[in-house]
Amino acid sequence: MRNLENKVIYQIYPKSFKDTTGNGYGDIQGIIEKLDYLQDLGVDYIWLSPCCKSPQNDNGYDISDYMQIDELFGTNDDYENLIKEAKKRNIKVMMDLVLNHTSSEHIWFKKALEKDEKYYNYYIWRDKPNNIKSMFGGSAWSYSEEVGKYYLRLFDKTQPDLNWENEEVRKDLYKMINYWINKGVEGFRLDVIDLIGKEPDKMILGKGPKFYEYLKELNNNTFKDKLLTVGECWGSSIEESYKMCNKDGLTQAFHFTYQCLTNKDGDKWNQTKLDLSKLCSILDTWENEYKGIEAIVMNNHDLPRLISLWLNDKEYRKESAKLLITLFGLLKGNLYIYQGEEIGMTNAYFDNIDDYIDVETLNKYNELKEKNISEDKIMDIIKLISRDNARVPMQWDNIENAGFTKGKPWLKINKNYKEINVAKDINSIDSIFNYYKNIIKYRKENYSKIDSKAIFKTDGKILTMEKDKFILYANFSDQNININYKGNILFKNYNNIKENILRAYEVLVFSK
Ligand code: GLC
Repeated sequence: MRNLENKVIYQIYPKSFKDTTGNGYGDIQGIIEKLDYLQDLGVDYIWLSPCCKSPQNDNGYDISDYMQIDELFGTNDDYENLIKEAKKRNIKVMMDLVLNHTSSEHIWFKKALEKDEKYYNYYIWRDKPNNIKSMFGGSAWSYSEEVGKYYLRLFDKTQPDLNWENEEVRKDLYKMINYWINKGVEGFRLDVIDLIGKEPDKMILGKGPKFYEYLKELNNNTFKDKLLTVGECWGSSIEESYKMCNKDGLTQAFHFTYQCLTNKDGDKWNQTKLDLSKLCSILDTWENEYKGIEAIVMNNHDLPRLISLWLNDKEYRKESAKLLITLFGLLKGNLYIYQGEEIGMTNAYFDNIDDYIDVETLNKYNELKEKNISEDKIMDIIKLISRDNARVPMQWDNIENAGFTKGKPWLKINKNYKEINVAKDINSIDSIFNYYKNIIKYRKENYSKIDSKAIFKTDGKILTMEKDKFILYANFSDQNININYKGNILFKNYNNIKENILRAYEVLVFSK
């Protein structure tokens, strides 16, 4: 395998990154404008959430033409130009591949609805639905009047699942992937990839019997082991990740085990307090047992901001953001950063349901309404968990619309943009942005120190991580706690030190 470890990958949610046309949506030109900023941060790859043609029912994860950039974002030429401009700055472009489903607007599905001999078999049809539930709530089957049958759609009804058992589907997808590789794309993030081997009649969804076979075929016909690939595989165990991450599979997988830690009984809409001993045990497994390249990820477009979920994004926002990047930034593997994380952007916490756009959020709202749960209670849940919390536009400046657009933003701006924005952060020495830069620089220059065995401990408030060359203490509580430490300070998130005390959300790293 080529050297695909110790990389920093920055996720861009194109719709919300930077608008240059004034239509309220971010675009590819906007990304090009900000490449210098990303180079300064120290990123090796940019991963763009889908920009292909799409009716945007699921913000681009519903693709209606895989070969065409959506005009909302620009043209295919703009995309190629982005690849070129990024390359000049030593940054590679990683594309988001949605291979499990298309949009119902895709020509394949439209033909399937006409019962076209070929394209009907591109999707999954049954006379009767079974009990499979959609990830967005309700049944995973929708009835088509035209066909007189139900089609499977594990997400929204406008996202019909592709029939991976059909070799023609697979070949068409490989052709498309190779088209983008030829254009210069050098990495792929594979959306819900573990679902491609599903066997719906047996109620098997994730990592079905043929999953590894399909993955190998996909790999061998497209990216091989040359490009950086990361599969979205919710809740994969260490064994499963290892099985799918090798020269015939992917470089790495998002398993999200730590993000799911506070989900009560596996339900993300029902949150409980973070249990540090569970976090230690997960980190221990991935750092010490996993033989692949771990994908370290704190935030993405599907998750609430981790500082809002785990720590204190109000009185201790700066300390909290620095604490998290110190801990996660000193883990081995590839570090994924989601836009805005590097300046400590927080959940948007919109009070009114009318300010939300995300299809999953709106489905949940309606589901809870039907259960007669009070509006206040529903909004408390949504304000904490909704995917729109992380999808709000990037906060560049303290001017109108946070410098994201000159028009009306497609999704409201977080009201804290005057306080939290890039312009302010890059100019302040002790900012979160500059702290991220230091951690990234340290990773690049000292990876052998990071890549050592780690011992994790906790007393419920303080988490300790000890590696061969350094020791980290992180206070996850808002109390002062006495500790004994010695050594030279490598990283700290307060300006000064208080001898043998760890203050609220304080993190200290000592070299040994
Ligand atoms: C993945 C994406 C998410 C999308 C879903 C369906 O989980 O990250 O945003 O809604 O797949 O494509």
